[in-house]
Amino acid sequence: VLHSRRYEWTFADTLNHWPRRASSSHKGSHGKVGIIAGSEMMPGAAVLSAGAAVKSGAGLTTVNTVKAAIPIIASHVPEVTFFNREEELKLFYKEKDAVAVGPGMGVGSAGQETVVDLIDNFDGPLLIDADGLDSFQDILSLVRTRKAPLIITPHPGEMAKLIDSTPAKVNQNRFEIAEEYAYKNGIYVVLKGPCTIVATPAGESFVNASGNAGLAKGGSGDILTGMILSFLARYGDIQAAVSSAVYMHGHTADHLLEKGVAIESMTASGIVAHLETTFHLN
Ligand code: APR
Ligand code: MG
Repeated sequence: VLHSRRYEWTFADTLNHWPRRASSSHKGSHGKVGIIAGSEMMPGAAVLSAGAAVKSGAGLTTVNTVKAAIPIIASHVPEVTFFNREEELKLFYKEKDAVAVGPGMGVGSAGQETVVDLIDNFDGPLLIDADGLDSFQDILSLVRTRKAPLIITPHPGEMAKLIDSTPAKVNQNRFEIAEEYAYKNGIYVVLKGPCTIVATPAGESFVNASGNAGLAKGGSGDILTGMILSFLARYGDIQAAVSSAVYMHGHTADHLLEKGVAIESMTASGIVAHLETTFHLN
């Protein structure tokens, strides 16, 4: 039986773990991250997640996407490099410090093969979100033999699908469900929603209190993925990286609200732009 230990991850915790950026640093010091995101009909998810990764301090961000989406993404996020999704996946992930897969990627067998390859062969921290989780329940057995950290970021609907339940039932039992899934499978589970829970493979969980309903809008999950990815490449401690990104995601939305941005008008790209203010922590 899992006797979980529950904590709140606060602003003070985030501050205590904030990575210092030495003035002598170069882009290689801050991590090379890869994001598999976007498709012809959903280039915006890649724009948002890649933009968030860049603005969260990653040294070099590469987007793996379909050819048709490249010029669109490049026009919004000129800082990133690209990898054509048709090329061999191993060439994409081999030198990455952390990889995220899923936002707007589309579902289907090609996506599933990508996720399987990453779980089996990518030896850094791997984050699976959105479309990347589409058939995760079918490949769950592969996770047991994986040694490097695996992080999943389901919203309650995605979590429900993973455990063959309903979003309402997930929300009645958020802590237990996140903790049990994380512990049983040896992974990190970020169960999103108001008060996001980060459950660890060791049976701990960290709840977040930042954020507001301005985040209840398409795109806010995509930027969280980019933020977590960037932090994963820069922190030694996976849980601190994930919880700090979750905290700063909500905190930035709260800061915008205080500055006078209406809940209704808050946008994911507005939050990404505002990271340059809320990240002034050292
Ligand atoms: N208070 C605080 N935080 C909130 C609130 C709220 N009321 N509502 C949402 N959030 C936060 C969540 O905690 C999470 O970090 O906003 C983010 C929303 O993430 P997602 O639910 O993944 O939303 P998003 O990806 O932007 O859009 C939904 O996700 O997986 C895809 O296919 C799915 O199209 C759908 C899309
Ligand atoms: Mg999402």
